[in-house]
Amino acid sequence: MFSKSWILVVLGIISSGVCSALECSPTAISKPTLRGATVLDVEANEVRNYTTTGLAPGTNDGGIRTISFCNVTVIHTHPGWNDTITTQVWLPLEDWNGRFQALGGGGYSPGPGPLYLVYAVAQGFASASTDGGFADPAVSNVATDLTWALSSTNNVNWFLLENYASKATSDLADIGKQITASYYKTPATYSYFNGCSGGGRQGLVLAQEFPDAFDGILAVAPAINIESFIPAGYWPSHLMNRRNISLSACEVQGFIQAAVDVCDTLDGVQDGIISLPSWCNKVAAHDFVGQEYTCNGTQYTLTAAGAGVVQAAWSGSVSVASREGGYYGLNKDADLTSFSIPTGCQIINGVEVCFNTLFTNWIVYLIAKDADFAIDEMTDAEFFHGLVRSKRDYAGMLAANNPDLSTFKARGGKMISWHGLADQAIPPAGIKAYYEEVLKRDRGAHDFFRFFEAPGVGHCYGGLGPVPNGALNQLVHWVEKGAAPDTLGADRGHNGTARNLCPYPLHQVYIGGDPSRAGSFTCRHI
Ligand SMILES: *[C@@H]1O[C@H](CO)[C@@H](O)[C@H](O)[C@H]1NC(C)=O
Ligand SMILES: *[C@@H]1O[C@H](CO)[C@@H](O)[C@H](O)[C@H]1NC(C)=O
Ligand SMILES: *[C@@H]1O[C@H](CO)[C@@H](O)[C@H](O)[C@H]1NC(C)=O
Ligand SMILES: *[C@@H]1O[C@H](CO)[C@@H](O)[C@H](O)[C@H]1NC(C)=O
Ligand SMILES: *[C@@H]1O[C@H](CO)[C@@H](O)[C@H](O)[C@H]1NC(C)=O
Ligand SMILES: *[C@@H]1O[C@H](CO)[C@@H](O)[C@H](O)[C@H]1NC(C)=O
Repeated sequence: MFSKSWILVVLGIISSGVCSALECSPTAISKPTLRGATVLDVEANEVRNYTTTGLAPGTNDGGIRTISFCNVTVIHTHPGWNDTITTQVWLPLEDWNGRFQALGGGGYSPGPGPLYLVYAVAQGFASASTDGGFADPAVSNVATDLTWALSSTNNVNWFLLENYASKATSDLADIGKQITASYYKTPATYSYFNGCSGGGRQGLVLAQEFPDAFDGILAVAPAINIESFIPAGYWPSHLMNRRNISLSACEVQGFIQAAVDVCDTLDGVQDGIISLPSWCNKVAAHDFVGQEYTCNGTQYTLTAAGAGVVQAAWSGSVSVASREGGYYGLNKDADLTSFSIPTGCQIINGVEVCFNTLFTNWIVYLIAKDADFAIDEMTDAEFFHGLVRSKRDYAGMLAANNPDLSTFKARGGKMISWHGLADQAIPPAGIKAYYEEVLKRDRGAHDFFRFFEAPGVGHCYGGLGPVPNGALNQLVHWVEKGAAPDTLGADRGHNGTARNLCPYPLHQVYIGGDPSRAGSFTCRHI
């Protein structure tokens, strides 16, 4: 006879075993349910000691990581839309931190693939990303591909565009949270969205249109007003075509260096960074015509033709187009050679990447709606009319600029956005203008949404300026402990410089001392 207590001990061992052993298999994980969607397939398999490069969006804090996770793949469709969307949910096998993090994409892809997932899982998050129904992760420069946006000549694929705009992203939230709860047998305590660039735009869309989906949103360098800034970003290239000008990267850099030489020290520190761009507004490219510039051992003279193109990038099409069609330019310490002024393509990992295809593809596929459109022969009238049409056709779906965040505020959501002032792809003036609109509607918006300018930082990361690598941690503290970020900690600039970035409308002001130390600066209204 077994004693009763012995049986209880055995039962206890069995039941605790059942509760703690999490099963990573398609049969153990419940199919998520989504309004207006059919889940076609759920796959799940354990992956151990997966070792690859990981990065967090909007940081330079990456590197090789080794992770072990339950790899769940969910395929779903929206009946009648003929779409097939793949969502990846990666669940840490050990040391889950109890939280869910969804990751945004970049360019014309709403999903980052493994790069961001690896990093987020290494931090202990249950993590997820979507391919939006069209991204091919095997193609390395997929972020500039827009062929999916046309069903046929003159016919936009509105379903895929809607998936790109917001639907696949809100589905990502529903799927990721349900899979997380099913696998761990308890829901995530808090959920976060984290993205840069196109992913930053996804973050804004969530706060505006799906305010219940996330407790905290980190929207870095958001592609706000994408229907405007993308085609408008082609303005300098268009001028080069119209005027038959080609520029060397050296000459473009000569103009940038000349502007930096004039404006760098206006903030009291010589560091190659223009931290107060508005103080540099009076400087124009034409001021520098005739100056000599030595680059890679060759002396160049800055030309009037070059000045016209460089100034077009700095002042933006807003300076010449109708109010409706124009857009802001980039700041004067931004690297114009990577997107704005094509000085040749680059070979990255064996693939030729011409960054300004980000701009040309929008004009070809979404404005001309013709894969064979001869963009080099576009007239000024066609260009400016195209900007107005793009706004009219796509703003409602894609702009992500609705300043009404009242529902997100009411549900206790918190959002941090920051934008590098030396961004070379997305003019930082867009999110700044949006934040001002939000403040106009709600003077207390600061209590749940803070925007920070990052002097000298390029698109998402890079550049001379310190990068706010810890922004997600600060967001987590704000959401979970109520500790609002008075400043955003930033570090690892070109020489290990640290700064505390200021919440807009405050600006970083030098107060004396070693400029590499954060304490040598303060935040002020200027
Ligand atoms: C994963 O790595 C750990 C630590 O190095 C090792 O003990 C374990 O055997 C590895 N597991 C597999 C499946 O390779
Ligand atoms: C995760 O699972 C999917 C589908 O089974 C598979 O295609 C993918 O390669 C897996 N990912 C990793 C990192 O093993
Ligand atoms: C559905 O999509 C597939 C490819 O994704 C395409 O071959 C097929 O023609 C589409 N069907 C309809 C009815 O549009
Ligand atoms: C454009 O410039 C190139 C080189 O400067 C020149 O060879 C060509 O004839 C020019 N084309 C036109 C249409 O002016
Ligand atoms: C200077 O030369 C280096 C090495 O050839 C090259 O990588 C770099 O792009 C050049 N810089 C410019 C502005 O052309
Ligand atoms: C970093 O660079 C800035 C400007 O170039 C300089 O003022 C500062 O002293 C440097 N800091 C360190 C730690 O080298």
